[in-house]
Amino acid sequence: MSKGKIVAGCLSPHPPHLVYATNPEQNEPEATGSGAWEPLLNGYASLQESLKNKEFDVIIVHTPHWKTVVGHHFLGVPHFKDLSVDPIFPNLFRFNYDLNVDVELAEAIAAEAGDRGLETTMMRNPDFRVDYGTITSCHLSYPTWDIPIVVISSSRPYFYFSNEYGDAEMLALGEATRAAVEKMGRKALLLASTSLSHRHFTDEPEDPEDPQFESIYNPNQLAWDERILQMIRAGDCKQILAEMPDFIEQSISECKDGSFTWLLSALEVPTYPGHIHGYGSVIGTGNAVVEWTPPEEPS
Ligand SMILES: [Fe+2]
Repeated sequence: MSKGKIVAGCLSPHPPHLVYATNPEQNEPEATGSGAWEPLLNGYASLQESLKNKEFDVIIVHTPHWKTVVGHHFLGVPHFKDLSVDPIFPNLFRFNYDLNVDVELAEAIAAEAGDRGLETTMMRNPDFRVDYGTITSCHLSYPTWDIPIVVISSSRPYFYFSNEYGDAEMLALGEATRAAVEKMGRKALLLASTSLSHRHFTDEPEDPEDPQFESIYNPNQLAWDERILQMIRAGDCKQILAEMPDFIEQSISECKDGSFTWLLSALEVPTYPGHIHGYGSVIGTGNAVVEWTPPEEPS
């Protein structure tokens, strides 16, 4: 078996509004416009174009909306088909999914994670409902759904212990992911399904598509997002990790669920720039669509 590799790693946030706005046949509600979220929709269109030039045979997604109390869980059933409903926005997202799982790779990542001292569980319930964070990220990044995925849950170390300890577990999980991809000979696309700043409005306008109600929650949130984007452009992901605990705390960031740290670790903490396809707000949160393409290894 030839050595596998990560062909790209992405920040791929999961506001259900973005799926709603594009009216895919799988989603039951119908949107009439998309004016409020154009920067992000354009960002995802740009990411999709870029991914057409890359070859990958599996998508690995770390999702904040499959929250597991004890350890890191992995989907362990080859096929899932059901209706996914966003619990907060059922008016926008009721998505009929039909997806395949690369169980062999999932088991390999779980084994590597176990070797690094992490608690893991394979999720073997065939009636399990796949969370909307996974579905949304995958659909917005690669809407053809013609390759298998691996899904990793969001364990709770940040919440039960500290941001610093949570990051330590996610660094180990990222290393485990990379090691398994390489050993199993896969060409993998990685998706970190996470927003950046995450303070959000608690009222929904009558028309969710009205752009006048859409803006970042406050300047503090925007300042943190701009700082993170600046470090992404500069290829200084080591500094992002150094500031991650404060970023999480001060911007109420969804990165507290670990996806971003996992991604940076799996990419070996990039020292090259990430390409920012788009940045924008949904219900006041800050979201960036970003792609890192690891340099080719010398043969
Ligand atoms: Fe979320």
